Amino acid sequence: MHTTRPRITPRSAAAVPPRWRREVARVLISQERIARRVRQLAAAIGRDHQGREMVVVALLNGTVLFLADLIRHLALPLRLDFIGVSSYGSGTESGELVFTKELRLNVRGRDVLLVDDILDTGRTLKRVLAKLRRLRPRRIRTCVLLDKKARRVEPVEADYVGFEIPDLFVVGYGLDFAERYRNLPFVGVLHPHVYQEASKPAPPRGRPAGLPQQLQRPRGQRRRLLGGSATRSYTRT
Ligand code: XMP
Repeated sequence: MHTTRPRITPRSAAAVPPRWRREVARVLISQERIARRVRQLAAAIGRDHQGREMVVVALLNGTVLFLADLIRHLALPLRLDFIGVSSYGSGTESGELVFTKELRLNVRGRDVLLVDDILDTGRTLKRVLAKLRRLRPRRIRTCVLLDKKARRVEPVEADYVGFEIPDLFVVGYGLDFAERYRNLPFVGVLHPHVYQEASKPAPPRGRPAGLPQQLQRPRGQRRRLLGGSATRSYTRT
């Protein structure tokens, strides 16, 4: 069932497209590499689930691009549903996980493939797996695009992993910073100035804003931005 997991190093040779150079410092995983790897994951999942119908359960919102590409390569009968999870920090790094959308399909006795964008501390997958197990599926397998193994706090591993990445805050291919950059076709790392600008207090009303509203972090939400020694907190949205 397990495939070899390509390990990504902090440096990458792929050039940042001119359109994104002001905000994106580097491409960590190129569009072509992602596409190749997603096809491999779909092939492995297909082999392991031959002859069975499965329920794909994806966590919102970061999985959208990965999920769309993954399932279009899965030549299996499947049904699709979503769970919404957000974490709202209250001054602690872990932040409380809140379910914003519940599963609607009945998974009792079914094979479930749980899909997430990135496995970091493991707190999200642990919580979601516990919730799913209470619904008595026949089997649950997990698939994540990215695995930040070095950050793990909970003893959770995914069955299918796209790439193991270093301890960096990444955006693109569904992953966001303050809800932006999800549409990048690659996985990349932002310039520090993007975070610095986003953390500036909002200017008083009537004065020109330095940044669009979307880049100002919502109240009470925290986000971990790792790169070098810069460590802040993050939340999933
Ligand atoms: P845990 O720690 O619960 O985290 O395994 C999983 C969720 O945290 C978010 N996350 C990130 N989001 N870039 C992002 O855009 C990152 O580098 C990153 N690391 C963690 C994400 O929502 C993930 O599902």
